[in-house]
Amino acid sequence: PKDIFSPRRNSHGLPLWDDTTRGAFLKDVHGALERGVSAAAMVAGKPVAGEARTVVSPHDNRVEVGTVVEAGEEAVEQALARAHAARHDWDMIGGAERAAILERAADLYETETARLVAIIVREAGKSLENAIADLREAVDFLRYYAARARAEFAGPVIMPGPTGERNEMRLHGRGVFVCISPWNFPLAIFTGQMSAALAAGNTVIAKPAEQTPLIAVEAVKLLYKAGVPEDVLHVLPGDGATVGGRLIADPRCAGVAFTGSNETAGIINRTLAEREGAIIPFIAETGGINAMIVDSTALPEQVVRDLVFSAFDSAGQRCSAARVAFVQKDVAHRVLPMLKGAMEELKVGDPLDYATDVGPVIDREALKMLNEHKSRMAREGRILADLELGADTRYGTFVSPAAYEIESLSMLKREVFGPVLHVVQYSADRLEEVCEVINATGFGLTLGLHTRIERTVEEVRRVMRVGNMYVNRNQIGAVVGAQPFGGEGLSGTGPKAGGPHYLYRFATERVTSVDT
Ligand code: NAD
Ligand code: ALA
Repeated sequence: PKDIFSPRRNSHGLPLWDDTTRGAFLKDVHGALERGVSAAAMVAGKPVAGEARTVVSPHDNRVEVGTVVEAGEEAVEQALARAHAARHDWDMIGGAERAAILERAADLYETETARLVAIIVREAGKSLENAIADLREAVDFLRYYAARARAEFAGPVIMPGPTGERNEMRLHGRGVFVCISPWNFPLAIFTGQMSAALAAGNTVIAKPAEQTPLIAVEAVKLLYKAGVPEDVLHVLPGDGATVGGRLIADPRCAGVAFTGSNETAGIINRTLAEREGAIIPFIAETGGINAMIVDSTALPEQVVRDLVFSAFDSAGQRCSAARVAFVQKDVAHRVLPMLKGAMEELKVGDPLDYATDVGPVIDREALKMLNEHKSRMAREGRILADLELGADTRYGTFVSPAAYEIESLSMLKREVFGPVLHVVQYSADRLEEVCEVINATGFGLTLGLHTRIERTVEEVRRVMRVGNMYVNRNQIGAVVGAQPFGGEGLSGTGPKAGGPHYLYRFATERVTSVDT
């Protein structure tokens, strides 16, 4: 249908390479940080009272970013009660009005760029550029789902009436949607889930990741300011199993949108299956063991540029990141030394420094898991590169970017969520087997392919069960409205975020048939 291409433009970036622009922007960012951030769970627009916890920065654990009061049992109950009571009114105001509110929120996000970016950089440890991209994606989600709501939730679809009756089909919200998000896109994914659920006519209780409550509460305040009624939206930072667990177990929860690890998705799925009452939709967007396949026709310089970016940007903490490169044996002697050389140029350090390529990982738990994995790879595989960390990283949770050659993909038992790349060599006649091995992981999120043979592109596309395949480019940073994003198998239930079918899963369809 034509309206898949809604009239809408994606947001703009900032020309940070320009010294004057960067200088002025950094001044605003520092100004925002000096003002500090104090956040609390918000039920119906009011902050809950309680003991505040300090949030420290992953790049330097001595730096306090702000404080947060998390949600307790009472806040969970109140949020459920208020959201449940408000669900019909919000659904009935229609898609056009909801779209206008979301578009106002997008504008407000943009006017608050420096403050939002400052919080993302310090709370999540994302680089300046990554934090700006996170904000832009959030803005794009708001405008994209607003456009979809205007196109599909603003009036009935008139169906054929073969015997003279008038048949109308309408999309409605389902009720209270619980949106559970990860820390790695603390604004974009948090906003994406929430705005999709709101656009489709649901009331929302948002449960951000434990690691990134400050940016979440800040975003919700902007949504209230844009006109989302207070009873329609609530934000409950807190522990996943207790706050998240209570929300999803409650029969007033009419749908769950979850982005995070495969393991947590399994726990939520089981909780929902054991619940009494209606069977409700569960949208899960999870991880991947993503591969990049490189054949002998590929250009090594381009491969290395795209591989390094796909594996190490955002310190490898993207669900889309390349975890394993399958390099054809005939070109490995050219690609691998170049890969090592490029990795040695990566600068690891403070994400607020414009020169930094790789920032910290999110917390001590991630640091421990990644370092244990690296030790195992060093024993069982061959070290291709493992950078030294500088002294300026000693107070933060930094993992040195590393690459290992391994015998087989079966050595990776689960997603390795950090700056660690694995390389497997394959011989020219084994491409089909490579595809089978990747499919056999059961994950199906992103795939990179570097080849200049069109038939290979078609053959790989035909057999691979992945949500997003990227050819002769990097494999991260899907663009809202252009590259709908999400995986299959162990990587998620679909539908695709930033795609034309996303809102349907948040909605229910009702048909009225009138004898005329
Ligand atoms: P996580 O699974 O640990 O946590 C995600 C969210 O679930 C958090 O808000 C957490 O508090 C909550 N949670 C934890 N236990 C819960 C429970 N028992 N009941 C209800 N909620 C619970 O994931 P993470 O570490 O925050 O994020 C990283 C993961 O997210 C990676 O696996 C990554 O691949 C994945 N991810 C996927 C996508 C995608 O679009 N497919 C995008 C970003 C991240
Ligand atoms: N949408 C994000 C990416 O493509 C996760 O990198």
